[in-house]
Amino acid sequence: VQWTDFERQTIQNIFGKMDYDDVGPAALSRCLVVYPWTQRYFGNFGNLYNAAAILGNPNVAAHGKTVLQGLVRAVKNMDDIKATFAELSVLHSEKLRVDPDNFRLLADCLTIVVASRMGSDFTADVQGAFQKFLAVVVSSLCRQYH
Ligand code: HEM
Repeated sequence: VQWTDFERQTIQNIFGKMDYDDVGPAALSRCLVVYPWTQRYFGNFGNLYNAAAILGNPNVAAHGKTVLQGLVRAVKNMDDIKATFAELSVLHSEKLRVDPDNFRLLADCLTIVVASRMGSDFTADVQGAFQKFLAVVVSSLCRQYH
């Protein structure tokens, strides 16, 4: 993958300014609410019974931050996201058995949350760079499934 200077700066900028404690939980809980079949992998997280329960679930909040920490590793290794996520790909496929279609759903939820927090700063060019970054992340996570 080739990155333009604008794309690199945009990704660094988004993650540099991001409030992880807000965005991580918001993105994961949105995914669990809007795509309820994604709940099946979190059977040990306790009460996911309805939207209020998901939004108030501390395990969901904590895991939302864990996912973002994973993404930060990709930001720091933008030129080799594939290798950076090799282990995570094995974990999600062989151990957790997550259907890889779900990666894009979570990525889209994250895009929506980031867009809502950035407001008018989330221009079409910024969106393009962010979605390109997430597409590389998703593709890298899917690698072990091929
Ligand atoms: C665990 C990242 C998508 C289900 C994890 C961990 C990370 C991570 C960093 C912790 C790994 C560890 O403990 O070593 C990501 C990223 C994703 C993604 C970057 C995509 C943007 C998903 C999706 C699902 C999922 C879509 C299911 C719908 C899980 C589960 C765990 C996990 C069940 C174990 C949770 C636990 O019991 O603590 N993920 N993940 N992940 N992920 Fe993902």
